[in-house]
Amino acid sequence: MDLVKFHLVAALSWLILGMLAGSVEAYRLTSPEAAGFMEAVPWLSYGRLRIFHTNAVIFGWLTNGFLAFTYYAVPKLAERPLVAAGLARFNRVFLQIALAVGVVSILGGYAEGVEYAEPPWWADVLFAVSFVFAVINTIGTILKGGPGAMYVTLWYVGLAFVFTTLNFVMANTIVAHVAPGAAGAALSGLWIHNAVGLWVTPMGTAIVYYLLPVIVRKPIASHRLSLIGFWTLAFLYPLGGSHHYFYSPVPWWLQMLAVPLTSALLLVVYTVVYNFFATMKGSWNRISDDIALRFLAFGIFSYLLTCTQGPFHALLSVQKVVHFTDWIVAHAHLALFGVFSWWIFSFIYFVWPKITGRPMASRALAEWHFWLSVVGFFLLYYVPDTVAGLMQGFTWLRGLSIVDSLKAAQPFWIPRAISGVVLLTGTVLLAVNMALKPAESGQADGR
Ligand code: HEM
Ligand code: HEM
Repeated sequence: MDLVKFHLVAALSWLILGMLAGSVEAYRLTSPEAAGFMEAVPWLSYGRLRIFHTNAVIFGWLTNGFLAFTYYAVPKLAERPLVAAGLARFNRVFLQIALAVGVVSILGGYAEGVEYAEPPWWADVLFAVSFVFAVINTIGTILKGGPGAMYVTLWYVGLAFVFTTLNFVMANTIVAHVAPGAAGAALSGLWIHNAVGLWVTPMGTAIVYYLLPVIVRKPIASHRLSLIGFWTLAFLYPLGGSHHYFYSPVPWWLQMLAVPLTSALLLVVYTVVYNFFATMKGSWNRISDDIALRFLAFGIFSYLLTCTQGPFHALLSVQKVVHFTDWIVAHAHLALFGVFSWWIFSFIYFVWPKITGRPMASRALAEWHFWLSVVGFFLLYYVPDTVAGLMQGFTWLRGLSIVDSLKAAQPFWIPRAISGVVLLTGTVLLAVNMALKPAESGQADGR
């Protein structure tokens, strides 16, 4: 349990750091003068802070959160302890060192030009070793597990760890060093695509497949649908990577092919979402008093929205307007914050009372966290940033200058800067709730 606790505390620390950086970036984009003294400090430059932000949230927050879930659920489902618990204990600290070396190097100006794989080779080696340690424990435990090891959650965890090992090595060797720049653009798109689709997506889906039946106390509605969702993700997902590089030097036939292959992903998503909602049937009333279930359900709604938006903006006519604009930034946040971060929040509210042996300290803090995260995100981040994207896209289509597009987008970046404060406050309230001891009556459980 110490392992789960450690990774959750590490995850939240990275999230708070990442959100701080995101908020500063968001503020800086509100006006040319906002950079202030930061302009003169190289390690606070916009470019470095942006990469710090994405690395802190994707690898620090989400990855630590997923590891916490893995170390909780895998032994339970495989009905045996981790095959190398000592290695996992060593690795929990080693991973934080690898991540810290990566982000400090980025702030120091040592970044490689592959999006989401920017840390330099020395940090890559540390992260790769740490990831292999985690693979040994997860795959080893699943393989040696009892009959429960066939449970759908474990297929997703297995898929995520195996694919991500291959994907990480490809990005940091071939894309970063053998075929950088335009030549490697298709592979770079594949790396981004697989990082979100074959690391974040299966790990998040695994969380829901585990938590939902446990919280609503009934089995997943359809085993057959979970099989279809899993195999279509494994086979269809890697094929559409070039949709990240529309209107780029990537061969045109590859871009054209990405359109139908992207639409085919709707099959994956709708199967999974239908299965989740069918499992929720009869339990919707419980979301009012169970914060874990509420974050889970809202995350499922956002997943449906993200993945309906995805094939829509992969249409070439829509791409013409939204590519390179904030529409995509809003989509990225809807997915990574509005879906996967909420599913990890759900896991925290579910598991924290179990691993600490005491309920969450304050129901009110949990409610505040929920409403600040959900309302703050949709009202202040997602909607304004999507509109900012449309303003940029249409300004460019009209042949106006980049300065005109900035002027058009800037009013919508002001609410986004405010969202930084709101979302960060929500997250700090969660951390406070985890740190506080509940009052003697013990009535405050956030679940
Ligand atoms: C306080 C909350 C947050 C704020 C204010 C914020 C703000 C920002 C800003 C201003 C950018 C740069 C946009 C640009 O350069 O045009 C950005 C990029 C990004 N952020 Fe955040 N962010 C927040 C939280 C998060 C979280 C929690 C995640 C993931 C779990 C995340 C993932 C990303 C990603 C992946 C990008 C790159 C998007 C792209 O290139 O399309 N952010 N964020
Ligand atoms: C079926 C569902 C989805 C489809 C079809 C889809 C499609 C797309 C497309 C076409 C782009 C590129 C747009 C452009 O650059 O103009 C994109 C960007 C992005 N998507 Fe999705 N998406 C889906 C779901 C997701 C999910 C679940 C995640 C997170 C786990 C995600 C994270 C991102 C991120 C981070 C970007 C920005 C990448 C960058 O910075 O270059 N998407 N998506």
